[in-house]
Amino acid sequence: MTTVGEPEQLRLETTARPAARRGRVVVRVEAAGISFAEVQTLRGLHPFPPKPPCVPGYDLVGHIVEVGPGVTGWHVGDRVVSMPRTGAWQEYAEVSAASLARVPVELDAGEAVALVCNGVTAWQMLHRSARVRPGATVLVHGAGGGVGTLLTQLAVRHGVRVIGTASPAKHDAVRALGADPLDYRGDVAGEVRRLASRGVDAVFDHIGGTGLDVGWSLLAPGGTLVSYDSSVAGYPPGQWFRPHLPALRRVIGWNLAGLVGATRGRRARTYYVKPGPRFRDDLASLFTLVRDGVLRPTVARRYPLEEAGSAVRELIDGGVVGKLVLLP
Ligand SMILES: NC(=O)c1ccc[n+]([C@@H]2O[C@H](COP(=O)([O-])OP(=O)(O)OC[C@H]3O[C@@H](n4cnc5c(N)ncnc54)[C@H](OP(=O)(O)O)[C@@H]3O)[C@@H](O)[C@H]2O)c1
Repeated sequence: MTTVGEPEQLRLETTARPAARRGRVVVRVEAAGISFAEVQTLRGLHPFPPKPPCVPGYDLVGHIVEVGPGVTGWHVGDRVVSMPRTGAWQEYAEVSAASLARVPVELDAGEAVALVCNGVTAWQMLHRSARVRPGATVLVHGAGGGVGTLLTQLAVRHGVRVIGTASPAKHDAVRALGADPLDYRGDVAGEVRRLASRGVDAVFDHIGGTGLDVGWSLLAPGGTLVSYDSSVAGYPPGQWFRPHLPALRRVIGWNLAGLVGATRGRRARTYYVKPGPRFRDDLASLFTLVRDGVLRPTVARRYPLEEAGSAVRELIDGGVVGKLVLLP
């Protein structure tokens, strides 16, 4: 990525293979994820965006080909995932050894990379932020997207009823995952009240802005709203933080009201995926679910590295069910 702009400005370049510095490894990348984070990166709207020229790419799966000084526990040939946040879209990526987690050798690379950022996000929002119990009813916005398809499957297998918003073209896919689909351009609040008259136990929201007020109003007593982006509310050029302020203000306000008992036990949380021991544990749980045939990451399409721009354009244009993957 040589300049902030549109996906068509991405260029494929050949450079020397990186060497592994202290505490780091070089990974031969098998698959890298394409996500909304790269749309934000390209447009200079991602939190702490890298300065061009740089290589985008949030997460990757591959084999270690070189181990730097001071690295213990990792060897050449190990199959790993990493979430470097930038730099995954290349054949050889040099990443921190502390960011690595193991990947079962039999797992498909595209399915595995779909689980890294999106899968852990879905798992942790469901089980750690909202702590949803079997028998609950939840509202998943964007149920046909990368995070949404996984969150819907995880909730359904946990015995949770899912109402999922999506554009009408994705309703069959969302239904096939086990959710009741709703068109997000319609009367979402009215439809949710009709389907769940006592309210929902959790709302998972990447919309932001006033969309959060709607979600909050739909919560049953004791329910949790999880805000994990403000992507639909919009990002004005050059302003990566400002769109998040209305969300933060609301979440803080609701939690303060909760302290004085004014929210009928309802809670609001923000979520941001981070590497670390919990990340590794939760990713391992996701890999086990895939191995056992309980979870099936939806890989919408696989692109060669030179078509990264077309892949990002497809994501921007909408209509992608699940995850787009690059195969460097
Ligand atoms: N906080 C974190 O740690 C974290 C981690 C991962 C992802 N995220 C964020 O989570 C969001 C989803 O990521 P993703 O990778 O799943 O993206 P994605 O695959 O592009 O999915 C986004 C989905 O949102 C749907 N959508 C569009 N407008 C909507 C609206 N008004 N109401 C409800 N849904 C709408 C789209 O559906 P249609 O195509 O049908 O229009 C699409 O399926 C992104 O904003 C991403 O940045 C945050």
